[in-house]
Amino acid sequence: MDWGLKNRLSRIINPEDNRVLMLAVDHGYFLGPVKGLEQPEKTLEPLIPHADALMLTRGLLRRCIPAESNVPIVLRVSGATSIQRDVLPDEGLTVSMEDAVRLNVSAITLSIFVGTDHERQTLMALSELVDFGEEYGIPVLAVTAVGRELGQKDARYLSLACRIAAEQGAHFVKTYYCDDFEKVTSSAMIPVVIAGGKKVETEMDVFKMAYQAIQEGAVGCDFGRNIFQNPKPVAMISAIRSIVHDNRTPDEAQEIYNELMS
Ligand code: 5RP
Repeated sequence: MDWGLKNRLSRIINPEDNRVLMLAVDHGYFLGPVKGLEQPEKTLEPLIPHADALMLTRGLLRRCIPAESNVPIVLRVSGATSIQRDVLPDEGLTVSMEDAVRLNVSAITLSIFVGTDHERQTLMALSELVDFGEEYGIPVLAVTAVGRELGQKDARYLSLACRIAAEQGAHFVKTYYCDDFEKVTSSAMIPVVIAGGKKVETEMDVFKMAYQAIQEGAVGCDFGRNIFQNPKPVAMISAIRSIVHDNRTPDEAQEIYNELMS
């Protein structure tokens, strides 16, 4: 791995413990103003100090994140679809690579839709990004999308999608936690982070998912709604952070959450 690429990746995945807690706030690229991100700057300001990196779009970055901020940026560069239509996998690249460089991002990211009619176009887009990333030293995060078209996926599917991302040259991959998750991490060849998905019932459900994913080989979490839609988002991100970086158990994380929310 070239020096620049390694340097940028180490701003995201902490080389001291090989772990990362990313905050995903890129939802608007196809969902519009989701609950909790109607006014992103208000939501983000207290959360940024607790996140190792932010995953977002260039519009949100330019409008809501101070340029003086030192938080590493994982820039979403795919999209051009919306929840209004039934073709979410029909994504293309939406950001020029010159603009990604101009924005001084630490990584670039896109979704791949393995197993859909748009598999080829999203994998070709991944290859294009990897060519660019290798040329300019910018790591590529592939997101193995799930959703309406793909349904809930199991370890067989997710390990296939993660491994394909790695074989195409992605530098790290984001996927979903599932039963037998160790099968996914052990065959991925690259670091795996997990997405949170829709907001779940209790904080403990999130803590257990994060803890199990780490135990089964994930390097960290890239959570969105389960943090910023929580009534106490700072308590939530702090508790998840304790699992990711301090090896706390779900019960210990719950104590941290309870203490901080009171
Ligand atoms: C969608 C994404 C989003 O960043 C991610 O899924 C959002 O985070 P969460 O699901 O935790 O709200 O990559 O493809």
